[in-house]
Amino acid sequence: MEMSGRVHRARFLLLVAAAFWVCILYFRLSSIIAPSERAASFAKGYVRRSGRGGYDDPCRGRYVYMHDLPPRFNADMLSGCGRTDGRWPDMCEQVSNAGLGKPLHAPPEDEGEGEGGALALTGARGWYATHQFALDAIFDGRMRRYECLTNDSSAAAAVFVPFYAGFDFARHHWGYDNATRDAASRDLARWLVGRPEWRRAGGRDHFLVAGRTAWDFRRDTCTSPNWGTNLLLLAITKNMTVLVVESSAPGLGNDMAVPYPTYFHPRTDADVVGWQRRIESSDRPWLMSFVGAPRPGDPRSIRSQIIAQCSASSACRQLGCATGAGQCHTPGNIIRLFRSSTFCLQPPGDSYTRRSAFDAMVAGCVPVFFHPASAYLQYRWHLPGDHARYSVFIPEDGVRAGNVSIEETLRRIPPPAVRSMRKELVRLVPRLVYADPRYTLETVKDAFDVAVEGVIEKVAKSRTGSPAESWLKKI
Ligand SMILES: *[C@@H]1O[C@H](CO)[C@@H](O)[C@H](O)[C@H]1NC(C)=O
Ligand SMILES: *[C@@H]1O[C@H](CO)[C@@H](O)[C@H](O)[C@H]1NC(C)=O
Ligand SMILES: *[C@@H]1O[C@H](CO)[C@@H](O)[C@H](O)[C@H]1NC(C)=O
Ligand SMILES: *[C@@H]1O[C@H](CO)[C@@H](O)[C@H](O)[C@H]1NC(C)=O
Repeated sequence: MEMSGRVHRARFLLLVAAAFWVCILYFRLSSIIAPSERAASFAKGYVRRSGRGGYDDPCRGRYVYMHDLPPRFNADMLSGCGRTDGRWPDMCEQVSNAGLGKPLHAPPEDEGEGEGGALALTGARGWYATHQFALDAIFDGRMRRYECLTNDSSAAAAVFVPFYAGFDFARHHWGYDNATRDAASRDLARWLVGRPEWRRAGGRDHFLVAGRTAWDFRRDTCTSPNWGTNLLLLAITKNMTVLVVESSAPGLGNDMAVPYPTYFHPRTDADVVGWQRRIESSDRPWLMSFVGAPRPGDPRSIRSQIIAQCSASSACRQLGCATGAGQCHTPGNIIRLFRSSTFCLQPPGDSYTRRSAFDAMVAGCVPVFFHPASAYLQYRWHLPGDHARYSVFIPEDGVRAGNVSIEETLRRIPPPAVRSMRKELVRLVPRLVYADPRYTLETVKDAFDVAVEGVIEKVAKSRTGSPAESWLKKI
């Protein structure tokens, strides 16, 4: 599943991440954690129906206009997935099935699950071997079936730009010069600023999805002179909202973190509800578990301490990636382990966030974080601001120093508190998964719906925030 150059990436990104946080953000952490926590407030979601004043249009205030970009910005990247010149990994498998990847097949012991295997981890139930960086295609697919698309840009609350920035990174990253890496981003900038939709608000109502970490799109910052593209440093993206799976400076830039895609892509509301019941009542013989590899070259990493503590505990189970590479990347095994564990350890890896944290939460396993940037400073639209409601925090310094026992810390949490966190996770499941873009959920709001609401609200705020912005008053 992982792109090649993993070791390089691991060492490099950690350095990069470290450098960036130190040079820009670290000293601001405390001021960022505390105040806003505006958080995903579930009670006051976006109002779907006004119902007043005769306005019955359920799409009122929610219309999205989607740019009809030339295929070189999206579809051509999918059809060219195998043309790699041997320089980058073939993406064909990961972009198959509308970006979901290959469907999972249940092993025999799983087939009896639910009535007649109704809860087995199979493609028919929405389970796929989805790549962690496949969001470009999944989000675009969801948008194409969004119920409030409009062709009248003047009626739109936001404008979507279906550029596959993450796939563009992948196809030009290895063995290309800076100009080639940036060519598509620059091409996009030229295309966009010439459009009447752009001129209306200088692009401040525009958004795109770059389904990787923000580090991959800001090459010329203090972080990484030789890594990635400069998409996030262009004048156009300074005005737009860019959705990424990890933000580089949460709350400071225009990049906003949304969940990594997990392996679960429900097709119907019933898929979601069935899975919620399944994880609520799941047997959880393991107190804790960990899936991941050590980072031997990185002195800041606490992975080796995590692995050592887990190995020494009979209550901890892990799927190691260091030796049997195939083992930890079998999605079915990962989900089955998380579904039978109470707590899932989520230390930083190549960067602060992990796709694994979302796999854990979707399996009803309470995530244990060791750094606030792994989740609490990200995903403000999708996760509750009060992180104690759904997760456990153990500061990494104690683990690194060897004076904190993770097992003892977790055992001290009273069972009712654990049950309450799991209940919260069960409630969060819908908003942490991306539905199969080829189907339409009826009432359930998924991660896509929450993200679009977040964008619309953000655009609306940017409007009222600036008096010059009378452009929107007429909508
Ligand atoms: C927008 O226009 C295209 C091309 O004419 C059409 O296929 C599509 O259905 C229209 N979409 C909406 C939401 O009206
Ligand atoms: C790309 O540009 C950076 C400066 O932004 C430079 O340090 C680096 O060597 C360049 N990489 C290549 C492959 O030209
Ligand atoms: C971004 O917005 C500012 C302020 O409205 C505007 O002056 C600028 O031209 C916009 N940038 C682009 C690339 O359109
Ligand atoms: C463990 O060590 C860290 C780092 O030296 C220190 O900050 C922390 O207070 C210690 N915790 C305990 C429980 O001794």
